[in-house]
Amino acid sequence: MNLPNIKEARKRSEKEVLVKRDEYRVPLEMKKQGVGKYYCIYTYGCQMNVHDSENIKAIMEEMGYSLLEEMDEADVIILNTCAIRENAHNKVHGMLGRIKHLKETKEGVITVFCGCMAQEEGIALELKEKFPWVDIVMGTHNFHKLPFYLENTLKTKKQEMEVFSVEGDVIEGIPVKRDSRYKAWINIMYGCDKFCTYCIVPYTRGRQRSRLPEDILREVNDLVSDGYLEVTLLGQNVNAYGKDLDLGYGMADLLRDVAKTGIERVRFVTSHPWDFTDEMIEVIALYKNIMPYIHLPLQSGSTRILEKMGRKYTRDEYRRLFYKIKEMIPNVAITTDIIVGFPGETEEEFMETLDLVDELKYDLAYTFIYSKREGTPASCFEDDTSEEVKKERLQRLNEKINQYARENNEKYLGKVVKVLVEGESDKPGKLMGYTDTMKLVNIDNKKDVIGKIIDVKITEAKTWSLDGEVVDGE
Ligand code: SAH
Ligand code: SF4
Ligand code: F3S
Repeated sequence: MNLPNIKEARKRSEKEVLVKRDEYRVPLEMKKQGVGKYYCIYTYGCQMNVHDSENIKAIMEEMGYSLLEEMDEADVIILNTCAIRENAHNKVHGMLGRIKHLKETKEGVITVFCGCMAQEEGIALELKEKFPWVDIVMGTHNFHKLPFYLENTLKTKKQEMEVFSVEGDVIEGIPVKRDSRYKAWINIMYGCDKFCTYCIVPYTRGRQRSRLPEDILREVNDLVSDGYLEVTLLGQNVNAYGKDLDLGYGMADLLRDVAKTGIERVRFVTSHPWDFTDEMIEVIALYKNIMPYIHLPLQSGSTRILEKMGRKYTRDEYRRLFYKIKEMIPNVAITTDIIVGFPGETEEEFMETLDLVDELKYDLAYTFIYSKREGTPASCFEDDTSEEVKKERLQRLNEKINQYARENNEKYLGKVVKVLVEGESDKPGKLMGYTDTMKLVNIDNKKDVIGKIIDVKITEAKTWSLDGEVVDGE
């Protein structure tokens, strides 16, 4: 048994990061474990977790298990959790209730709890004491050992808990079962060293570890050979890629090399404004297959709040970067993240955020009410703003965000844009896909366009999406 510890998780060691290529293995006898059995997996949180789930699915299938969409008939139920805000917790607690109920009516169901919540000290303790029926608790650094945990728990019928607070290695060779045949997530780095004062991620994902360029490029080349059209390079702070490697090779170099593989579309998330170099902007502008879409989290428009958040840029530095990107990358779309109600945020400071939103007119923004995370520096900051005021601020902000989202979308009316058609839309009878600039487009169903990048004429603009029709000849 190994429990996480928040103080340990804060430490950043000087130890060299190792690339481990044979850490992941499934012994022969375990490959039959799941034959004739089913698993299902519920994924919460960011793309990082979505991609981890793609790895976990492949691991399960190497053991012979088959995937189910729902838990009712499953032999193994996996919760891949997120810890970013309190409401992420609430959803998971609801799910644990459902699973417990199922376990009471069906014998032998195994529950696996993993992801960022498992890395939280308080949650791990709660699982140990209040939810002893959760069979396996494993952290973000060691989910590749799932076959061994399953084997043990089947033998001992006891709770297996292994969560490491500190982990400095990069594990290569974990298999992946991708959700899409056309677009793929690729981790280029793990962890985060930025320690924004409100954020739990540096504790749940550990220190920044970049993958080696050759491993990333091999993965992209394999995807090109397999017919993939789009890759998204993933990291909490992709602009800092390579800083921990000392190879003199950074994000601009990686973007250039990934673009040169010839893959149709290259995307990347997330870009912390701090490490955005001019060279990166030049590379993005130069290569046509690097998509003109940048997610550039602002968090707050007030320099005082930004400083308290530990974001390391001022309102003006952010504005300058924003305009530089807009100037140098034609037709670029910029989206953002904003937190309202950070401890001590005054009405005037919130107005600074609103003013900046009025000025920059984002294509889209993800907005959140500040959520206190145990163990982070901001959890000790004095917070005298009521929840009611915070909710009201969020609403005022969202009105503006929606207004600009719609206005930006209206600029597409009548235009012909490239869309990678991914599959069926939620809207009955329609297909869906994204533009270069990451706008969601619903298009009329037409045969043989799924999995292709096609010309689409935009016929209607809404706040969250566009409608379009396939241009003749496609
Ligand atoms: N690494 C990314 C963000 C990852 S988390 C970056 O730095 O840009 C995604 C978003 O969740 C953040 O941008 C932030 O807006 C929000 N977030 C993170 N911690 C939060 C908290 N404690 N309360 C509310 N929102 C939070
Ligand atoms: Fe969290 Fe900041 Fe790291 Fe983003 S950069 S993951 S907000 S600590
Ligand atoms: Fe959530 Fe962990 Fe991602 S906390 S947002 S799943 S890195």
